Amino acid sequence: MNKSAKKKTDDRMEKIVSLCKRRGYVYPSSEIYGGLNSCWDYGPLGAELKRNIKTFWWETMTNRRDDIEGLDSSILMSPKVWEASGHIENFTDPMIDCKVCKGRYRADQLEHARCMKKPSKTPLQCDGEFTEARNFNLMFKTFMGPLEDESAVIHLRPETAQGIYVNFLNVKNSSRQKIPFGIAQIGKAFRNEITPGNFIFRTREFEQMEMQFFVHPDEDQKWFEYWMEQRMNYYLELGLDKDKLRWHEHGPDDLAHYAKAAYDIEFLFPFGWQELEGVHNRTDFDLSRHMEHSGKDMRYFDERFTEKFLPYIIETSAGCDRTLLTVLVNGYDEVEIKGDTRVFLRLSPKIAPIKAAILPLVKKDGMPEVADKLYRELRGKFKVFYDHAGAIGRRYARMDEAGTPYCITVDGQTLEDQTVTVRDRDTMENPRMALDKVGEFLAEKVG
Ligand code: GAP
Repeated sequence: MNKSAKKKTDDRMEKIVSLCKRRGYVYPSSEIYGGLNSCWDYGPLGAELKRNIKTFWWETMTNRRDDIEGLDSSILMSPKVWEASGHIENFTDPMIDCKVCKGRYRADQLEHARCMKKPSKTPLQCDGEFTEARNFNLMFKTFMGPLEDESAVIHLRPETAQGIYVNFLNVKNSSRQKIPFGIAQIGKAFRNEITPGNFIFRTREFEQMEMQFFVHPDEDQKWFEYWMEQRMNYYLELGLDKDKLRWHEHGPDDLAHYAKAAYDIEFLFPFGWQELEGVHNRTDFDLSRHMEHSGKDMRYFDERFTEKFLPYIIETSAGCDRTLLTVLVNGYDEVEIKGDTRVFLRLSPKIAPIKAAILPLVKKDGMPEVADKLYRELRGKFKVFYDHAGAIGRRYARMDEAGTPYCITVDGQTLEDQTVTVRDRDTMENPRMALDKVGEFLAEKVG
């Protein structure tokens, strides 16, 4: 990457971080104390956007189908879970230190890291002197109960998936689902990443949206391909640009310890192509390990089969925070208008935090009263925002930058014929519509 291209990508991330702070999407955690490395807080618009992303995922993966059940398992789990799952032994990254700049890096990602002393170079390009690589387990440890000894050590889950596996029998029995079926859950996961960074792309505390689909071993490839297609379609439906999405196949060297096959959906971030979601064929690895370690029979049987078997698992695993960053990057747009650079956040109406702004053209002549009445009618059905402060152009601009897809303006004509203008953020068209049709219009657009 040449210098000017690099500068441009950095600018874009910087601008997005700054917009997030300004508009209330994302703030540095504990900011008044100087922040905490790689920890972030979601502000009013960020919390709403995150909730909308989770709802969209949940509806796609559970409510729109009848073969997937939801689950919400606990973050703290029996220490035996992590022995069985292989995380105690294998969930490690190779870590090295540079004796010259005192930087700490992932040994397998040096080409993507920045030298602590000379950030324009990677650690490989400076005259660093590295220690031997040593394996570092990424799970956060804490203690359960008042005694801080080895027997009280407990881990924060590094993936939500294990909560699903240990509940496989419970969910199967209570829901009476038959294979093939899935279990979905959204929840926090924690990883003591050696090199977190790129804003909310890689953090130590994050949320995952994971689904585990249990299938007959003879049908694993069919369902693997099915879920690859479904998941790519999901991102297109979420409004991501097709040309910024691609598949990346894991080779034998980067396959996780549990996987027979794995493909990542990658997105083109300003810092390059990076993983957004993984689709994995986990075989019967997890259920067989839990069967072995717990002594519980995890095998499946129903009358369609001649013998009991351990289902194979096809997993779809997405990061919620990473999806949020992706939609911000995908939607960020700058347009020159009359010599000014205007920022537009082109979020899909489905997930935009505010669906519509209700604006009286001026603060007089009865317009605020009509606008306020409309706002009150829509509030509760949609997240709408009432704003009468400042010139209409500035109010539109604030909403464009906040990602609001529609601005509904009450003007002089409204008082005569009960119509309003409905401005579309992306087409800039501003047709008139009957006041009593606005609710229907929004339901159709944001549903
Ligand atoms: N259960 C499988 C699993 O956890 P993964 O590839 O390690 O697989 C899945 O993680 C997804 O979780 C990633 O594609 C990414 O979106 C998100 N993710 C993983 N580590 C993350 C981190 N440190 N910060 C933010 N998101 C992360």
